[in-house]
Amino acid sequence: MKNSIEFSEKEGGFYWGNIYWGKNKKVAEFDAKKFKEFINQSPEEIKQACYKEGRLNHIIRAEHFDLSFLETICETARAARKVAKLEDKSIKKLLSSKSVLNFFAQPSQRTFLSFSLAEAHLGMRREEVRDIRTSSFSKGESEKDSLRTISSYFDALVCRNPSDIYDLFAVWVMKNSDREIPVINAGSGKREHPTQGILDYYTVRESFKGELEGRTFVYVGDCARGRTVHSLAKIMALHKGTEAYFIAPEELQIDEETEKYIVERGTKVFKETKPLKELINLADVVYMTRIQDEHGGEGEYNQDYVFSLEMLELMKEGSILMHPMPKRDEIDPRIDYLKKHPKVMYWRQQRNGMWARVALLAYVFGVDEQIRKHYQRMKV
Ligand code: NCD
Repeated sequence: MKNSIEFSEKEGGFYWGNIYWGKNKKVAEFDAKKFKEFINQSPEEIKQACYKEGRLNHIIRAEHFDLSFLETICETARAARKVAKLEDKSIKKLLSSKSVLNFFAQPSQRTFLSFSLAEAHLGMRREEVRDIRTSSFSKGESEKDSLRTISSYFDALVCRNPSDIYDLFAVWVMKNSDREIPVINAGSGKREHPTQGILDYYTVRESFKGELEGRTFVYVGDCARGRTVHSLAKIMALHKGTEAYFIAPEELQIDEETEKYIVERGTKVFKETKPLKELINLADVVYMTRIQDEHGGEGEYNQDYVFSLEMLELMKEGSILMHPMPKRDEIDPRIDYLKKHPKVMYWRQQRNGMWARVALLAYVFGVDEQIRKHYQRMKV
């Protein structure tokens, strides 16, 4: 990466990396250069910056996860779900002394709500900011100063942002403050959506009773800009012998960076433009996605890639159909009306999101073991 900052200038302010650096070029340059030094570190150094005392502290990228972390989260999610089912309220007090800011600068319904409910489940105090630009931007305050200020009122930050590198930016801001609070990435641009990756993994793991080696995933739709695809594909590469088919038109094929990452870790990758019907019988998991047209281009979905009702029959015994949602016309609407169909997993998947986020927050604040132990005690 070059060392000079090529800002884009809008309404008298300076932008780089889709982040606002303020109205003064000198200050903007000074800050952005420092950030650039941070992101120019090796992936391993960045990973280490996200750890604290041997535990993952900033949950920003799927590539920072290992199987033991994922297992811990899944076990905690399952325990939290079971404890709540028995109407036991003890989880509610676990994080009542903690507060969290849900800072969502991009539209969100399910991620926002499931985080908010997960926080409520743990008794956390929570606030939301949906658009930082309205206040600070008009006064020329940089996103750096703004984030540092608002973070100082809370114990954790959950953020979603259109910038591909906002997760790194938020960690960098925290690292430079005297009060480093955990950052949880709830979606950064086209690149990563690690908490969706975790809830998808939890769904897959529960569906296959933990037997995940050698599974075949068929990702369909916008594999280029679907950040949920990137996160899940990276997570699944942790398991031996997994295969990943990416079914998409050329221009929406999986990006080189993700492909390289998962191939290096042993996943066999197949990039296909064939109709979904021709490959459907190979899949253990079919993972549908919508066209991410908010990033430009056409929103039209190729009919060859629609999941039709008949495909449920063509899928292998025990296989599942997933979708991170929101969906449009990628899935035959009749499928929504099938009750408790064992292959139709996308509604359950949504609900799993809340439990996965309960587990994640509990992990971040070090109370996850208490949830698992509590469940063990209840079982006996
Ligand atoms: C996804 C996202 O925001 O990336 N939604 C979600 O969080 N479940 C997928 C999408 O918007 O298509």
